[in-house]
Amino acid sequence: MAVSAGVERLMNEYNRFKNVTLNDLFDKDENRALKYAIEFDGLYYDYSKNRFDDNVLQALFELAKEHHLKERIEAMFSGEKINITENRAVLHTALRNFSGKPVMVDGVDVMPEIRRVLAKMKTFSDDVRDGTFRGATGKKLKNIVNIGIGGSDLGPFMAVQALQKYADKEINSYFISNIDGTACAEVLNKIKPEETLFIVASKTFTTIETLTNAKTCRAWLVEALGESAVKNHFVALSTNAKAVAEFGIDVNNMFEFWDFVGGRYSMWSAIGLSIALAVGFENFEDMLKGAEAMDKHFRETELEKNIPVIMALIGIWYNDYYNIHRYGVIPYDQYLKFLPSYLQQLDMESNGKSVRLDNKKITDYATGPALFGGAGTDVQHSFFQLLHQGTEPVPVDFIIPAISLNESGVHHEILLANVLAQAEALMKGKTVEEAAAELRAAGKSEVEIEKLKLNKSFDGNRPSNMFVIDKLTPYTLGMLVAMYEHKVFVQGVIWEIDSFDQWGVELGKQLALKILPELQGKAEAKHDSSTSSLIARIKKVRE
Ligand code: F6P
Repeated sequence: MAVSAGVERLMNEYNRFKNVTLNDLFDKDENRALKYAIEFDGLYYDYSKNRFDDNVLQALFELAKEHHLKERIEAMFSGEKINITENRAVLHTALRNFSGKPVMVDGVDVMPEIRRVLAKMKTFSDDVRDGTFRGATGKKLKNIVNIGIGGSDLGPFMAVQALQKYADKEINSYFISNIDGTACAEVLNKIKPEETLFIVASKTFTTIETLTNAKTCRAWLVEALGESAVKNHFVALSTNAKAVAEFGIDVNNMFEFWDFVGGRYSMWSAIGLSIALAVGFENFEDMLKGAEAMDKHFRETELEKNIPVIMALIGIWYNDYYNIHRYGVIPYDQYLKFLPSYLQQLDMESNGKSVRLDNKKITDYATGPALFGGAGTDVQHSFFQLLHQGTEPVPVDFIIPAISLNESGVHHEILLANVLAQAEALMKGKTVEEAAAELRAAGKSEVEIEKLKLNKSFDGNRPSNMFVIDKLTPYTLGMLVAMYEHKVFVQGVIWEIDSFDQWGVELGKQLALKILPELQGKAEAKHDSSTSSLIARIKKVRE
């Protein structure tokens, strides 16, 4: 984002606007809430509690146009190789394309292959769920263990938790991701080999965590049931058939995907098999359809009414003009508890970059913010203190279903009251005078009031987005996730970075491979003095 006309205009807007508060904006315009809200397919997006006016928004849309956003969106959907450092198309959207229209990569329509794998997933998940496909001893496979990490874990894990209400209660879903042996041990302790299906999920099939965990699980199974049982108890999800075969999984038991599907964008592909097994293929397909609806909205709607575009531009406004490099996502829904961890990879692995598409180092603006979050109301009792009274604001996305999947007593009404209250409190705050008046009304002495009034005041003016979904369904979950994918994409376009590579994870991997033999005493440690002494210290304790 070099200093272009668009950037200059926004800097001027910032200087004009920076002292205007949310309270001023609402006081001035009683229609603000309705003016800055969008309703789409069971999703209501209220973005009025953000620090902008029409002029700021216009300047942000101009910035998007200056970056040819519409053309870039089209380039992604139509299979251009926009992941330039890996020379790959970016087509997670093709995985949920039910339009019947072809999607071309290098002159080949990828849709027939996508449909073939989806059909294979349907047959397999139906067969496991109804007992047609059984374990080697004839027992029904009721434990599904997904072994994968990053994009091969977080999406399916989040979705299986989110869709628990739709899941077959006879099926137990487990996820092993961490190389920490505890992850494997704790799952294997709970299950019986003859009732267990292992899904080895790895795009590359080279990831050390996944392969190590898969080997441990394979040995555990073979020890109990023999080598011949592997074909009934192991399937692979990957783009790398050769490595799958080398690992000892029959390629007939492999569900493919392709290099145009990024790891953190892959829950719509074969990587979603554990979702289909837990909730049934129809529900999995509904999730894809929800995502497809959001894709259509994103691709076809003018920028000014486009939900992911507006989210992205507001994020850029805070990140690059207000210099706020943090961002919270707080679903008020227990089922969506793991959405923030999923979004951490999506957002931070995509946009945590400092090299531009033109191969220049970024020195004069910030890219992706640090994202964190958790489920409300839990997090009100942990980090919300900082959101309300910390020295810097944190823009927040609140997500809430209007109807709970477990409407019982007053629970949901209290939950709803809380999410609305938090957004209002963040925005409105409480003046020192108001705090003093409250203390006075409570009978406090003037000395006590003096001591407490500042602590009990709230600056307010803290922005948030509110997303109200009618109800959490596979369809609405698909919409929400696709919405965030596209938000991340738009920000990457404006920051002029490649949102689809992840070179930043490589250096740590390389060094770990060097340190491993050193820890094992097979090589001599040669590092900085801190690393070397830590290696020596750990070796000593382990001896
Ligand atoms: O963390 C790096 C990464 O490459 C992620 O992008 C990816 O989702 C994860 O590792 C797992 O990779 P794979 O699916 O190839 O095992």
